[in-house]
Amino acid sequence: MKETLSKKEQALQRFAAHNGFLRCPVCGDDLSVMASGVCCGQKHSFDVARKGYVNLFLGQQKGLYDADLFRARQHVFRAGIFDPLVSLIANWIREQNYHSPFVLDAGCGEGSFLVRLYEHLGEATFLGVDISRDGIRQAASHCEPIMWCVADLANLPLATGSTDVILNVLSPANYSEFKRVLRSGGRLIKVLPGEEYLQEIRQRLGGLAPYSNDEVVEKLEEKANVRRSSMLCYQVDVDLDLWQAMVQMTPLSQHRQVSGDLPTSVTIDLQIIEATLV
Ligand SMILES: C[S@@+](CC[C@H](N)C(=O)[O-])C[C@H]1O[C@@H](n2cnc3c(N)ncnc32)[C@H](O)[C@@H]1O
Ligand SMILES: [Zn+2]
Repeated sequence: MKETLSKKEQALQRFAAHNGFLRCPVCGDDLSVMASGVCCGQKHSFDVARKGYVNLFLGQQKGLYDADLFRARQHVFRAGIFDPLVSLIANWIREQNYHSPFVLDAGCGEGSFLVRLYEHLGEATFLGVDISRDGIRQAASHCEPIMWCVADLANLPLATGSTDVILNVLSPANYSEFKRVLRSGGRLIKVLPGEEYLQEIRQRLGGLAPYSNDEVVEKLEEKANVRRSSMLCYQVDVDLDLWQAMVQMTPLSQHRQVSGDLPTSVTIDLQIIEATLV
C-alpha cells in the first residue's frame, strides 16, 4: 500500500530540495534541513510544524490580521476576485523567460495569491513568508507544493541573491532586504491599492480620508528603478455573503462599523509596479 507523507514530511522534503537557500534569522548562517526541522552551524534550530511550515520569526505575534480576517481573504480569493491580477503577474513573470524561477511572496497572508499563481506557473519554486502565524497556518493547509515560513520581511530568512522575483502584494515593504535577497537583475513586483480600491467599503465606514498611494510610490521610486507600471480597475458583482467577506478581509473595517445598503458591485483598483532594486 502506498504511504502518504504527512504535511510535515512534505514540507521537509520541499525545504531539503532547496537546501542552502534558507538563512538563520538569529546569526545569518545557512540553515540546513535536518530530520525534523532546520538548523544552522551555530546550532540555532527551528522545527517544521506538523501543519507544514517553519516559524523563523523571533518576535512576538501582534497586529491587525487575525484568523477571521485571513479566512475572509481566502473566501474572496476563491470567488476569483483577484484572478485578473494573478493573470497579469503570471504574464509579467513569464515574459522574463526564467528557467524555473524562485518566487518569494513577501507578506503572503493566507497564501491564496501564490496558490493561484502556481496554477499559472507550475514550473516555478514558490516560498510564502508572512509575519502572522495565523496567516501561514492557513497558507500551509493548501495542498500545492509551496514552502511557507513565518518570518519578518525586515529579516528575511533567505540567502543573499537567492531570489528571481519578489511579490509584495498589498503588504509593507523592506527595500534593503528585498535588494539583498534578489539576485542581480531580479524583479520586485509590488501591488498597491489605487484611490478607488474598495471605495464602496470606505464610503460606508464614514470619516475616512481619501486614500492616496503617492507616498508609497515616491518611496519605491527612491529605492528602485521602475521598469513598468499598470493600473487594473474593475467592478465585481457581490451578494451578501461575498460583501461580508470583503468587509471582513480588510483591516480598514477592523473595530469599525460598516453602515448603509448592500452595493451591487465593489471596485477593485490596483497599481502594479515592476522594479529592479538600486
Ligand atoms: C493586506 S495583507 C495582504 C496579504 C496578501 N498579500 C494578500 O493579498 O492577501 C498584509 C500582510 O502583510 C503582513 N505583514 C505585515 N507586516 C509584515 C512584516 N513585517 N513581515 C512579514 N509580513 C508582514 C500581514 O501579516 C498581512 O498578512
Ligand atoms: Zn544561527
